Amino acid sequence: MLRLGIDIGGTKINIGLFDKSHSLLASKKYYIKDITHLPSFIESSVLALCSENSLNHRDIVSCGIGIPGTVSDDGKHVIKAPNISILNDGLCNQLEELLKVPVRLVQDSRAAAWGEYLFGAGQGKSSVVCVTLGTGIGTGIVLDGKIYSGALGYAGELGHLPVHENGRACGCGKFGCLEKYCAGKGLDMTAAEILGEGNSCSELFSAAEEGNTRALEAIDDAIKMLGNALTAIINLMSPDCLLLSGGLSERRTLYSEPLMKYVRQSCYSAGKLPDIQFAQLGELSPLYGAAFLPMEEKRRKPQISASIMCADILNIGQALRDIEESGIEYIHCDIMDNHFVPNLMLPPELLNKFRDGTSLPFDIHIMADDPEGILDKLIIKKGDIVSVHYESVAHLQRVITKIKAREAKVCIALNPSTPIEMLTEVLNETDMVLAMTVNPGFSGQALVNGSFDKIKRLRAMLDQKGYHNIPIEVDGNCSFENVPKMYEAGAEIFVVGTSSVFKKGQSVKEGTEKLLSLLQ
Ligand code: DX5
Ligand code: ZN
Repeated sequence: MLRLGIDIGGTKINIGLFDKSHSLLASKKYYIKDITHLPSFIESSVLALCSENSLNHRDIVSCGIGIPGTVSDDGKHVIKAPNISILNDGLCNQLEELLKVPVRLVQDSRAAAWGEYLFGAGQGKSSVVCVTLGTGIGTGIVLDGKIYSGALGYAGELGHLPVHENGRACGCGKFGCLEKYCAGKGLDMTAAEILGEGNSCSELFSAAEEGNTRALEAIDDAIKMLGNALTAIINLMSPDCLLLSGGLSERRTLYSEPLMKYVRQSCYSAGKLPDIQFAQLGELSPLYGAAFLPMEEKRRKPQISASIMCADILNIGQALRDIEESGIEYIHCDIMDNHFVPNLMLPPELLNKFRDGTSLPFDIHIMADDPEGILDKLIIKKGDIVSVHYESVAHLQRVITKIKAREAKVCIALNPSTPIEMLTEVLNETDMVLAMTVNPGFSGQALVNGSFDKIKRLRAMLDQKGYHNIPIEVDGNCSFENVPKMYEAGAEIFVVGTSSVFKKGQSVKEGTEKLLSLLQ
């Protein structure tokens, strides 16, 4: 599974490919002049990046694109992009056509804030304001864990705060905007006024370093102007994190550090101050944020895991062959200790013997108080799934480590009444989640009320936290009627038993075909 992030600037395009654990596998920066054929340029660059890094472009499941402008709510259209010639508006649809994955646009400063919130200096915070000081001022806001665009979509336009009446003309069409005095292009103009035509922001800082008082005063004025604007943001929104990023923020001694000090002194506080610091991901933050935008991704192919306790145990060899010939992906093996669940089922030694009857990977569902002890008795193969119940152990992380050591996929199982938030501390070590839709222990039970809603909330939580790659498996009453609703809610691996594939009066193959036909 790969997620594609693209950051389009005035003269450059940065492209990055990320894997399921958010690692950046490959990235490349392209300097461009003509963006009239942007979709085909991006497509060819992505294909080249994949082949240069022996990645398969078919593994790409989604594409997020950061742009320096205002984007429509649905992330499909550019509304306004003052600093670069307008992108051809068909970008999203044309790229979806070419890449065959969902494509969403996002304002680059919001992408940067989202990237820092998920993987950078904003991790663990609830509300992050990330101010990118570059040629202009970009401000991205994450409010209570969600990208904040405002009711009209223009939230964060700090750079266009009017600070000088009849002041310098701005690309937004107004005059006297903040970014025309406190960011790159504006400080170029200040330098020209103080030091003479042809001088720019870097000469202004060099003059200040040499003690030029007018240069120092001009920079100090800019700090106060920008500092007041940042103070206003903090007083208005009370974020727990304010980050500075962008090339200009690297002017730490003369600019960004005195700016942070000014803001800490001037903002309102009743004790706690927001964490005011530098962004961590540098110019990659928009790439991370764009790649991990919360969006639906190309749905992964649904998979089936056949619950062997429901198969024809008297003819288990034939049952295993029927399952394999039906194209089912996993053998679901329920292990029950008559303590964690009120049933005794499928001892490890018996399951080990089943290995001789199939080459399919096992999806081992441990419903026992001593999962580590059970693990020691099992033959585990690479590619197996091992599910352990959150509720069954005091030291879940230790069991996860043990499963990983056996090179199996780690799956955390939750009983129907266990809140999804219980997963929070182990998600970064989890490959899958098993949402029980019946109380575990027996086949032939009815779905627990609220199961569809719980699956939906679980999918939303995983996506919100950037874990698009963690699929949801469901177990219990995966009937012909329930499975489409479970799939719709976000489940994609189905433990099938007496409710569908092993229903009486049909073959395993017929049951499987019928089930898959409902998921087209
Ligand atoms: C439930 C078991 C599964 C499954 C059986 O604890 O893990 O075997 O529910 O399938 P159904 O519910 O369709 O009989
Ligand atoms: Zn099960």
